[in-house]
Amino acid sequence: MSHIARFKAEPFPLEMHKVRVVQKLNLLPVEERLKSIQEAGNNTFLLKNRDVFLDMLTDSGTNAMSDNQVAAMSIADDAYAGSETFFRLEKTLQDFFGMPFFLPAHQGRACEHIIAKTLVKKGSVVPMNFHFTTTKAHIMECGGRVVECYLDEAVISKGTNPFKGDMNMKKLSAIIKEVGVENVPFVRIELGTNLIGGQPISLRSIKEVSELCHKNDLILVIDASLMADNLFFIKTREAEAKDMSIKDIVLEIGKAADIVYFSARKLGCARGGGIMTSRKDLFDTMKVLVPLYEGFLTYGGMSVREMEALRIGIGETLDIDMISQGPEFIEAFGQMLLKEEIPVITPFGGLGLHLDARQFIPHVKSEEYPAGALTAAIYIASGCRGMERGTISETRNPDGSEHPADMELVRLALPRRVFTLSQITFIADRLAWLYKNRDLIGGLTFVEEPKVMRFFIGRLEEKGNWEEKLRDKFIEDFGIDAI
Ligand code: F0G
Repeated sequence: MSHIARFKAEPFPLEMHKVRVVQKLNLLPVEERLKSIQEAGNNTFLLKNRDVFLDMLTDSGTNAMSDNQVAAMSIADDAYAGSETFFRLEKTLQDFFGMPFFLPAHQGRACEHIIAKTLVKKGSVVPMNFHFTTTKAHIMECGGRVVECYLDEAVISKGTNPFKGDMNMKKLSAIIKEVGVENVPFVRIELGTNLIGGQPISLRSIKEVSELCHKNDLILVIDASLMADNLFFIKTREAEAKDMSIKDIVLEIGKAADIVYFSARKLGCARGGGIMTSRKDLFDTMKVLVPLYEGFLTYGGMSVREMEALRIGIGETLDIDMISQGPEFIEAFGQMLLKEEIPVITPFGGLGLHLDARQFIPHVKSEEYPAGALTAAIYIASGCRGMERGTISETRNPDGSEHPADMELVRLALPRRVFTLSQITFIADRLAWLYKNRDLIGGLTFVEEPKVMRFFIGRLEEKGNWEEKLRDKFIEDFGIDAI
């Protein structure tokens, strides 16, 4: 916590929790790391966790739980229908968001499925501040398309705007006018905009979008999966929110929206998902899909134990000590990299540290997937797994040509309360070595390319033998016995 007094030390993030359960980690020798990443088709999703040192793939379902969350799991009431656990969770969520209706789902994309199936039809256009992979896929599956209305600064890696996730109101008004209100089933806001580096949206922008939607009789859907980080940024970066409590900020967000949905793998540090709405008509149309796709209305595919953990996790989101941990660690990590002049996304966002692969390895073209190549190189150098968030995460154009991503990012996620500052120091040190040897890194090419969301299970191989050269340089610099 930044407000804790320090005598001589430079500011550093200080954990307001202690670690009481630990899991042993394994750091493979570089030779085996090379073998593992090649066996995984250079796709970090396909690595075995036993071969990973620091798992920075995602914060999804990997956040540390609190003692109270684990304790609550033991009072879970297991019933197919009418479980007491459901009613406890429902009450918590109603109070949290100030919205009366709750539908459970097994994770975030399941909520997106239900919302898209209910509202999107062929020819629909869904404007949003930025897309997320699963969101876009569900809208497209229902015959709609996504139009992004982001600020110019959103896709500039060295930014100064504290709210790069804000909606571009000019673009939003223009697209609604162009396609007609009748073709816009809803407008979507993503909190903590994932694909541009966990960048927040301001409360001011949320309210502006809400006003425009409601003036035009349009539904506003807010994706609150990354709400914890976004709340921290609203509280600390937005002058108007400085004196508001976290609870009041959440209630304002709930008031602005017609539907709020979330992945409880992120928000609430559990596993599951949920849809909240203030509109009975929307609740009634969506609710029939829950038993069809998810499970009965009182569990929606979640285990009751996770629902209890979520109930407590949601309450803990109101604690500034909890929601500051991620962003403050990301900032500390980022400052270490800035000292080495490593290109990172600024201002630092939530979720994880984001490297700009186009600047890190400018010699690798978009068609050779710089973010994917850098992700593989980071694993070889350190045993840490990050996630490609660039062209591989995009979908090809209808004519089969490549669709270069706006930003070519490598995400090193910091699941909340999981890693220590010494582990962050380790990865920062390996990144410094890799940056010094960046000219060795080459491109990748697909050998197996699924049509939908290829980044999850697609396989790639190196162009040339740069990965072997990187391994050799590691051994040359650190010695044959070094890991
Ligand atoms: N919305 C956002 C903003 C997300 O970041 C995610 C998931 C989802 C929706 C879908 O939720 O995974 O529970 O189905 N993001 C994960 C990630 C996959 O690693 O960033 P889900």
